[in-house]
Amino acid sequence: MTRAGMSRRGLVLSLTVAVVAPAPAAAADKVVLSIDASRTGARIDRNLFGQFAEHLGHGIYDGIWVGADSPIPNTRGIRNDVVAALRALNVPNVRWPGGCFADEYHWRHGIARRAVTLNPTWGGVIEPNTFGTHEFMDFIEQIGSRAYLSVNVGSGTPREAAEWLEYLTAAQPTTLAAERAANGHPAPYAVGYLGIGNESWDCGGNMTPERYLDELKAYARFVRNFNPAQEGPSRMLKIAVGPGGDGPRWTEWTDAIMKAWQGRSWSWDFDGLSLHNYTVVKWPPAYASTGFGEAEYAQILKATLEMDRLVATHSAIMDKYDPQKKIALVVDEWGAWYAPLPGSTPGFLVQQNSLRDAVLAALNLNIFARHAERVRMANIAQMVNVLQAQILTDKAKMVLTPTYHVFRMYVPFQDATSVPVAFDAGTYTRGDVTLPRLDAIAARDTAGRLWLAVTNVDPNRHVAIEVALTGLTPRSAAGETLTAPAVDSVNTFESPDAVARKPVQATVDGGRVTLTLAPKSVTVVAIER
Ligand code: AHR
Repeated sequence: MTRAGMSRRGLVLSLTVAVVAPAPAAAADKVVLSIDASRTGARIDRNLFGQFAEHLGHGIYDGIWVGADSPIPNTRGIRNDVVAALRALNVPNVRWPGGCFADEYHWRHGIARRAVTLNPTWGGVIEPNTFGTHEFMDFIEQIGSRAYLSVNVGSGTPREAAEWLEYLTAAQPTTLAAERAANGHPAPYAVGYLGIGNESWDCGGNMTPERYLDELKAYARFVRNFNPAQEGPSRMLKIAVGPGGDGPRWTEWTDAIMKAWQGRSWSWDFDGLSLHNYTVVKWPPAYASTGFGEAEYAQILKATLEMDRLVATHSAIMDKYDPQKKIALVVDEWGAWYAPLPGSTPGFLVQQNSLRDAVLAALNLNIFARHAERVRMANIAQMVNVLQAQILTDKAKMVLTPTYHVFRMYVPFQDATSVPVAFDAGTYTRGDVTLPRLDAIAARDTAGRLWLAVTNVDPNRHVAIEVALTGLTPRSAAGETLTAPAVDSVNTFESPDAVARKPVQATVDGGRVTLTLAPKSVTVVAIER
């Protein structure tokens, strides 16, 4: 990022403080974060911390589903260790069954007597369909989350999707509701979110915006949620396919869908527009997920910060047609996409997860939080064993990744109210990459506690932060920090705590809170009144 870019970013963050020239060398290691706790902003929707579980590689099979007969401890076929780990994340929603897989998924293959099919997109392997509708809904219930279903627009029909939703949600004794009851679930299920297609501009059928809009209107009209408990505020939200990146192709897509939405008729509507954006320096993904150095650390973090510009660009187009921000921008696929681990099955998207990914996750969550007025849902790709996973498994073994720990530390930000933070981030330079050295967000929870998340991007230097607070008199401040010896430190089955959260204590003196951040670290503290 250029110096000019840095200044722009600083001004966005700053409410009352102009960004000044870089601090003199002696003072460079101290950053003042100015927070007026009485000035609140948008709610940080808990759905920003959503997950994505696709039928891809070991994401579902082995990662979540082992079958009731497995020696791996499970409840009705679903791994107990994975469920316990996910419960601690308070996962707000899980997107399923894809991804590209969703546009080839036929729900009837996954109920009652299962059809054995293929997974042509992801390795051409056998898809046993043993994990189907009931198993997914059971999983959602076990982890205490909500279902975000992607329906098949590419190779399915509105009728197929409408019948799936009737099967899931009808309370009245229709033939489909009776079939659901016969399959073990008399009560209607709750379906929180409905994705109408996935990447319909590419793997979902390579459609033009016009063609997709025709499909969207039909699906939005006919695919209904009949669950009486979902009338009113907990109604199912419908999410349309949005852009997949940067450049005119994607801005034109957003423009076309939002323009159509503005001119909508009574018969169709939607609530969210999706955005997919992976952190990839170039395609196909070539960066290694292990054994890299500081140069690759800086390059990947530079690439990930592009999320901010992308969100701002598409939000601005949405503002044109929807100034009241009724439609949410839903970043339902994001995360780092690296080269597959050597020796892993082609098409299974297996990668390790390092301290770099923890920093990357925090930076993205901060971007979403800063755009919380428009960005109200996001789903990291993916939950278990695929891409930037929270959890890795190998038969009976399970390990929590550095990314998992960031999601765990950020739980208090779910549904908290943003509080603006003003600071001059300074810079960190490696080769030709210059990044903001520090990033921070703050929010107040319903108990009145102030939460502060601070990331020290610099892998070499500590940062002393001083929180200058108004609107709240702090009594104590403590939390957790995540760091490790190297930027490429990873958790393995043999060494699961190489990157682990550690308690951290801040000093409170009058209205000031001070804390020293380790290099390459993510820290979350609660400031109590
Ligand atoms: O997450 C992997 C794939 O990336 C998804 O299936 C697809 O939607 C995207 O291109």
